[in-house]
Amino acid sequence: MAEKSRVLVIGGTGEIGKFIVKASAKSGRPTFALVRESTLSNPAKAEIIEGFKSLNVNLVHGDIYNQKSLLSAIKQVDVVISAVGRAQLEDQDRIVAAIKAAGNIKKSSVKFEANYFKFKYRTMLASPWLCFFL
Ligand SMILES: NC(=O)c1ccc[n+]([C@@H]2O[C@H](COP(=O)([O-])OP(=O)(O)OC[C@H]3O[C@@H](n4cnc5c(N)ncnc54)[C@H](OP(=O)(O)O)[C@@H]3O)[C@@H](O)[C@H]2O)c1
Repeated sequence: MAEKSRVLVIGGTGEIGKFIVKASAKSGRPTFALVRESTLSNPAKAEIIEGFKSLNVNLVHGDIYNQKSLLSAIKQVDVVISAVGRAQLEDQDRIVAAIKAAGNIKKSSVKFEANYFKFKYRTMLASPWLCFFL
């Protein structure tokens, strides 16, 4: 039987990311969450972190603004999913650069939402009807 892909979630302690981490771990995939040092000692995130530990999620210390930590985390997995918050959306090119540098990633999901909304806004101005389907 084929081995299950190893999944890294960046932004896994966020509102959306925590569900992705849990779903991945529950599906039996070896799951990694990139977690900032400050988050591990943040009481507001303690329940999420404990939940991850109970599902055997691998907590990898890192930050998207620390390229070395990003590269090291990415090298351990096959799949990268980014669920970083809005403030980091434009900086996801750092994740893309690390994925390219690592060279081992089979699949990645890094959504540049700002571009999506710009596209949707322009479409709305040009054709409100078409925008309804986006
Ligand atoms: N929440 C919603 O209802 C909703 C709905 C639709 C779409 N979305 C989209 O979903 C995406 C995620 O949103 P969210 O609400 O889940 O965001 P969020 O709750 O703010 O979570 C952001 C995540 O990014 C992490 N992060 C922030 N800075 C980082 C850094 N420098 N290095 C590594 N990780 C960092 C945060 O870590 P810490 O835990 O350490 O802060 C957290 O895990 C966004 O694109 C948003 O637009 C969200």
